[in-house]
Amino acid sequence: MENRIVSDIVSPEDVSLELSVRPSSFEHYIGQEQVKHNLKIFIEAAKIREESLDHVLLYGPPGLGKTTLASIIASEMSVQLKTTSGPAIERAGDLAAILTSLAPGDVLFIDEIHRLNRAVEEVLYSAMEDFCLDIVIGRGEGARSVRIDLPPFTLVGATTRAGALSAPLRDRFGVLCRLEYYETKDLAKIITRTAEIFGIEVIEPAAFEIAKRSRGTPRIANRLLRRVRDFAQVQGNDCIDLDITNNALDQLQVDKQGLDHIDHKLLLSMIEKYRGGPVGVETISATIGEEVTTVEEVYEPYLLQIGFIQRTPRGRVVTELAYRHFKMEVPKD
Ligand code: ADE
Repeated sequence: MENRIVSDIVSPEDVSLELSVRPSSFEHYIGQEQVKHNLKIFIEAAKIREESLDHVLLYGPPGLGKTTLASIIASEMSVQLKTTSGPAIERAGDLAAILTSLAPGDVLFIDEIHRLNRAVEEVLYSAMEDFCLDIVIGRGEGARSVRIDLPPFTLVGATTRAGALSAPLRDRFGVLCRLEYYETKDLAKIITRTAEIFGIEVIEPAAFEIAKRSRGTPRIANRLLRRVRDFAQVQGNDCIDLDITNNALDQLQVDKQGLDHIDHKLLLSMIEKYRGGPVGVETISATIGEEVTTVEEVYEPYLLQIGFIQRTPRGRVVTELAYRHFKMEVPKD
């Protein structure tokens, strides 16, 4: 298990950790300045008009704070938050039950919204657009349609794959927010804030070192902090310094760029087995034994972002930068 620590599979430990360190207002939410700035304006305007906030789509790589933003939106609007996910809503009736239980202005958060099934998605269209449900009761000759009015509400959808959303669903969101990877300085602030909540001391260079190795992702930063704390405590240190941090992160096989052993396996297998590509994502997934969606949604986005791989029409290729990272020679064609 140990070497899975920095991958983006969310453990129960993560869930409880995230709940305890999650900021509850924009004031304490670090980073994503543009998104925060715009959302604050839309929220203020909705409040002035005494309307519900327009529907919001949050998209971007996992672990960047989409759920946190949804709960901040609800709290800033002073309404209740109901949380569910695309795969959890199996039938149109499930969605109808959730929607009819909302109070005026409430926020309904649907995580992984790209995974809603077609029948459910169709019910959502009129709910989002006209705040009503068109439900067909009965079958065949006796079937009839009934219309149920809903209270005005705000749908906050989150997805790692905006491109997988159908156009009619995407078009019904009035606010589209793309979350970006965090800058190192912002991650360092998040780590310092989380350490304070944990009641532990992290010196600034140590917070920066953890931040540098967190792939621009607060969820990973907080997880690494927790692991480094383990090393510190076992060594009888009550302060996290740079030595402890470097040592712990090396033990965890998180390299200077934040790449873990799965990233290494991915890049090295592309280099060693396929001469650096081009190679299709299915082949990469099969070679390293990870799901295609995990490669596409968890590993690739960061490797693309730091310029270690590129997408081409013929498949993925490893860049010179990645060869240099491994101190390997770039093959000559
Ligand atoms: N913890 C996780 N994400 C955070 C963020 N963006 N700001 C503050 N604390 C966080």
